[in-house]
Amino acid sequence: FIAKLDASDIEKGTYPHYMLKEIDEQPIVIRKIVKEYSDNQGDLQIDQAIVDAVKAADRLYIVAAGTSYHAGMIGKNFFERLAKIPTEVHVASEFVYNTPLLTKKPLFIFISQSGETADSRAVLVKIKELGYNALTITNVPGSTLSREADHTLLLHAGPEIAVASTKAYTAQVAVLAILAQVVAKGKNIDTKIDLSRELSIVASAMETLCDHREDFEKMAREFLTDARNAFFIGRGLDYAVCLEGALKLKEISYIQAEGFAGGELKHGPIALIEDGTPVFALATQENVNLNIRGNVKEVVSRGANACIISMKGLEMKGDAFVLPEVHPILTPLISVIPLQFISYYAALHRGCDVDKPRNLAKSVTVE
Ligand code: G6P
Repeated sequence: FIAKLDASDIEKGTYPHYMLKEIDEQPIVIRKIVKEYSDNQGDLQIDQAIVDAVKAADRLYIVAAGTSYHAGMIGKNFFERLAKIPTEVHVASEFVYNTPLLTKKPLFIFISQSGETADSRAVLVKIKELGYNALTITNVPGSTLSREADHTLLLHAGPEIAVASTKAYTAQVAVLAILAQVVAKGKNIDTKIDLSRELSIVASAMETLCDHREDFEKMAREFLTDARNAFFIGRGLDYAVCLEGALKLKEISYIQAEGFAGGELKHGPIALIEDGTPVFALATQENVNLNIRGNVKEVVSRGANACIISMKGLEMKGDAFVLPEVHPILTPLISVIPLQFISYYAALHRGCDVDKPRNLAKSVTVE
């Protein structure tokens, strides 16, 4: 069934926090997105003008901030792997003052839950002055970034109230996947993925994970109750999700948390590992499964308290949690969920204000 997401969604209902409600809404949001972006035959579709704009580009420049930037990192994978279009991802505040050399036919893709982030808007103003086209992917129709761009794709995630973004992130990843898939089709590239079906498998997997929240609460209690810092390690798509997991944890629990590419540990960060340092490792990518497990051994032998979250088919003895299997390119949609819950419960156990963390705003409208 497709639940309605409307104005009543700004009520918390029986939930203690918006963040928990919004984590739980993710399966519904994914199903809603598939519906919104399907035609009457059930085939995925995107406005032809947008598909043409993406197809015409010789390079995509994704510009975003915070969690939306992390979704952009996943989007780069989709555009390159599915639609075969070279893609760069940029932090908006960097791009404005340190603009990279652009190709002849760039298309800019702004990802922003609120559509109001000043850093991203500054880039939009700049690239419009240069005469380039922009597509905004946002949750808020009529927002500044939507109005000022040439095209808009909506996230259909319903209002996101908690400062820490959860359902907007997974919605962004899903919409990026659909866009890349539809563009690939438009370029006669057979991705060999039935994306609607794979996204519905993802939605069911998300439901399973939401039912396992107690496991993630236990992990938060065991690994983070007294932690001063925490690390998240992964490779490939898992690395991008690790950055997002670390951002979530630092935002709401104030534990210093960092995401690292597994292979980079030995080039510096491993010096930080002490007895009992919590290290969360994601292992959902077959081509680097042994590598990331090697990295876990390295930190464990230096005293780390490691917790491996793997995926069915790639699991090994001792893994703390095995995610249900989804298409390998869509793992970021589900591997993020345990990390969202872990952050939520860590913040809760430490008595933090989950929905309104200190020093942060939901939407930052100053540069
Ligand atoms: C703020 C929020 C973050 C968010 C970022 C980008 O810093 O606290 O949670 O990821 O802005 O917001 P946007 O609305 O552009 O996605």
